[in-house]
Amino acid sequence: MAHAEDVEVLHWWTSGGEAAALNVLKDDLAAQGIGWVDMPVAGGGGEAAMTTLRARVTAGDPPTAVQMLGFDIQDWAELGALANLDDVANAEGWDGVVPEALQRFSKYDGHWIAAPVNVHSTNWVWANKKVLDELGIAQPQTWDEFVAAMQKVKDSGKTALAHGGQAWQDATLFDGVVLSVGGVDFYKKALIDLDPEALGSDQMKEVFDRMTVLRGFVDDNFSGRDWNLASAMVINGDAAFQIMGDWAKGEFLKAGDVPDQDFLCFRVPGTAGMVSFNSDQFAMFKVKDPAAQDAQKAMASAIMSPKFQSAFNVVKGSVPARTDVPNDAFDACGKKGMADLAEASANGTLVGSMAHGHANRAAVKNAMYDVITAQFNGEYDSATAVEELVTAVQDAQ
Ligand code: BGC
Repeated sequence: MAHAEDVEVLHWWTSGGEAAALNVLKDDLAAQGIGWVDMPVAGGGGEAAMTTLRARVTAGDPPTAVQMLGFDIQDWAELGALANLDDVANAEGWDGVVPEALQRFSKYDGHWIAAPVNVHSTNWVWANKKVLDELGIAQPQTWDEFVAAMQKVKDSGKTALAHGGQAWQDATLFDGVVLSVGGVDFYKKALIDLDPEALGSDQMKEVFDRMTVLRGFVDDNFSGRDWNLASAMVINGDAAFQIMGDWAKGEFLKAGDVPDQDFLCFRVPGTAGMVSFNSDQFAMFKVKDPAAQDAQKAMASAIMSPKFQSAFNVVKGSVPARTDVPNDAFDACGKKGMADLAEASANGTLVGSMAHGHANRAAVKNAMYDVITAQFNGEYDSATAVEELVTAVQDAQ
């Protein structure tokens, strides 16, 4: 039974590493007397959670706080469903410490409507160090070296690339591959500006060709596998690599693994200096009860505290959503993530992740997902996929 001073939190943090991070948040709120009513909806990328959310809102019973990504936040704000957090934001000076790239999603019409808890990024590779050492594989620097390394692993009888065949996971690979083929300019033109020429270009065909190459390094049982089970394959040494957002690091840490010693984290070869980011933010749905509103504000404030941002993100695998949090408590991958983010943000090489709702609204994202997944599963060759992508994106706008 929820009390007014409780927050009911809808989220999709159900893997081992995610649950550990969630507990940091729960404990932090509990210490401030805010009760927690848990509403987990499993499914990476949050599609299932967003379906549940729509049903709850339609039934007139929205949860008080919801984990949300990018354009979904803007969509709910546009419908007038989200509470205004300006009081807390202004009192605490969020404007001065939250990077612009995040504010673009946390604010609507100039008003704060979400509290960003982290910054993740998708163009990462996670590798089992022991497997690489045993096979004499050095950390690949270029795409060709990466392909050669995967071939070596495959020849040894192990799985080269741990992957789960779910649309959002296929799309997560796609984020990194688009950057590796055409860099930030091409990524922006194709996935953010939706320029039909870029979407239909030879470069895009090359992207799909690379997706086919990756598909050749995935094991036979990949269909439908959850992302954290794919991470487990790398952790256990059954597989060498996983291309996945840095939430994967949460799984390695949960298993007691240490960066550089047990596992490696490096950018998708060919994407050094570039970051495709997504930020988990908590949006508060409008509620009438003043005590419930106070609980929402207290939660928003707790999320934004620098101490919490450090404690939470150290466990989650992400980096803080504020620029003034020291990196002392972070491991080597976290420190690299923070430095990469700052560098990409200064150099204009920071782009919103298409796979995780930071490049376009859900309709366009889903249209892209369909084509990417169909091609990954062999339904389209690269040339057909390019044509389908142009049409699907056009129809979805
Ligand atoms: C979220 C992460 C989450 C991942 C897998 C992403 O969309 O941003 O916080 O860990 O999905 O569930």
